[in-house]
Amino acid sequence: MRKTIIAGNWKMYKTLSDGQELAVALRRELYKIENIDIVLCPPYTLLTYLADALETSNIFIGAQDTYWLDEGAFTGEISPKMLKDAGCKFVIIGHSERRQYFGETNESVNKKIKAVLKHSLTPIVCVGETLNEKEKNLTFKVLDDHITNGLKDISKEEMLKIVIAYEPVWAIGTGKTATPEQAQEAQKYIRDLLIKMYNKDTADAIRIQYGGSVKPDNIIQLLKQPDVDGALVGGASLSAESFSEIIKKASEVVK
Ligand code: 13P
Repeated sequence: MRKTIIAGNWKMYKTLSDGQELAVALRRELYKIENIDIVLCPPYTLLTYLADALETSNIFIGAQDTYWLDEGAFTGEISPKMLKDAGCKFVIIGHSERRQYFGETNESVNKKIKAVLKHSLTPIVCVGETLNEKEKNLTFKVLDDHITNGLKDISKEEMLKIVIAYEPVWAIGTGKTATPEQAQEAQKYIRDLLIKMYNKDTADAIRIQYGGSVKPDNIIQLLKQPDVDGALVGGASLSAESFSEIIKKASEVVK
């Protein structure tokens, strides 16, 4: 059975005191939740603090990106070794904002996945089409590309440690959520690709999140889809009220 995983991607929001307040409120609201893996991905400057503050809680900490080497003369970069040291358990890789604004490619995604796995961190690998690609009916082609090239030379054992996040770019920050049926169609397509690349047992064990304008009022319908195993939440993860409502609603619908 795939345990539902809901992660909040804070992107470039929250100072230390804001993040501290949010984390404390979430810890208080969510301490009883056991059937959901809850992850917070704050900016790098908050990682150590939040990992310490939430160490004995049911909330994991993740980073929003990484470089692929352990150390070196790479000004401005952060390594998986440092993220592990800071208390992270998860790392988002290949987010569309990294692909769009910072030159992330399938090749760099692939290197980052391997580096993160080497340090026993869980990669959350983002895939998904832009509006332009959707309008040209290229969604499946883009998923083929992101999945087969992003996961190139990843073994079956490694694959079992990866979480995939389907994030259609046209749904991110726009308020236009994919319908539950659209999310299901794309996520089933991803699982079918994983069956072809690995096997059915492996594909069936891999968690696939949906991301893009997830809110308290659409989480239930999304999670009812058979191939939607969680959510990667942006804007609605920035307030304790909306993020805890998402998690609590999710907790009621999942087994
Ligand atoms: P929104 O929930 O703000 O649309 O962001 C989604 C996202 O990019 C999560 O990684």
